[in-house]
Amino acid sequence: MKKFSVLFDGVVSTTKEAVKKIAHNKHTLSLVDQPRHDDLYIVSFPKSGATWMDFLMANIHTTMSGDKRSINFFNIHTIIPDVHYCRQVGVANLAFPGFRVIKSHAEFNRYYKNVVYLIRDPRDAMVSYYKFLVGLGQFSGTVSDLIRSPRYGIDAWVNHVDSWYFKSEASLRITIVRYEDLKNDSYSALKHLYNTLGFEISDEVLNLAIQKSSFDNMKILEKAWNYGGRPVAENFKFMQKGVSGSWNEILSENDHAYICKASEKILLEFGYAK
Ligand code: PPS
Repeated sequence: MKKFSVLFDGVVSTTKEAVKKIAHNKHTLSLVDQPRHDDLYIVSFPKSGATWMDFLMANIHTTMSGDKRSINFFNIHTIIPDVHYCRQVGVANLAFPGFRVIKSHAEFNRYYKNVVYLIRDPRDAMVSYYKFLVGLGQFSGTVSDLIRSPRYGIDAWVNHVDSWYFKSEASLRITIVRYEDLKNDSYSALKHLYNTLGFEISDEVLNLAIQKSSFDNMKILEKAWNYGGRPVAENFKFMQKGVSGSWNEILSENDHAYICKASEKILLEFGYAK
């Protein structure tokens, strides 16, 4: 019988294949020792605001733990590891919340038991993804090409939401957070999130985290830390606009219609249909 190791993007492969994959993949996936029942995953399709959520939560967790580190683009993964970048997830290293909080862009994975699922209007996510991938030199087509791309485009977005929201298993404990709600009223969105997770966080701690993770502050941190030191084009910006609805300036009517047709059911479900 073959020996299997589980990669945390839902891929199961032999140990040898897994090691080979790590050696050859720049954006490698973490080999997690084993899933824990109390792991909390921050899951999203790319460009839905996960890094913002990571900064917010990391700021809350360090303050609550009496840890004096200030969160930046270099150390964020030591607090909230990203399965696509970190080789090891390690153990929970903060007194609060006392369990691991892990970032992932994976589609549904049955080993993720507790999930905060972030969702963003796909029109904004697509435009953000386009600028990001072009800035990283990973995509060279037009924005119309991107939304039609099976790997990065609207079909991939629909599959992602479908997998977590419509098709996932009943044992999954999932809390949905819309980027737009976080943007409109970060305080209420976070208060609700932590209450759902079973914690009461003081206004002082919440407001400090919101202020430290503001768009302007994260923009300064991105500049200071050069997006964590990853190789990027000279004019690359991770923190682009941080707003909702700016897809209007980029997408043609035809692109817009294409996205709406492919994602109609989800747009309606999450209040994005306009
Ligand atoms: S990634 O690379 O997939 O992890 O990207 P992700 O972090 O999920 O999403 C990046 C977008 O989130 C915006 N962002 C913010 N918006 C508002 N406030 C804050 N503090 C904030 N931090 C990040 C970021 O600017 C990207 O959106 P766009 O539209 O490209 O600006």
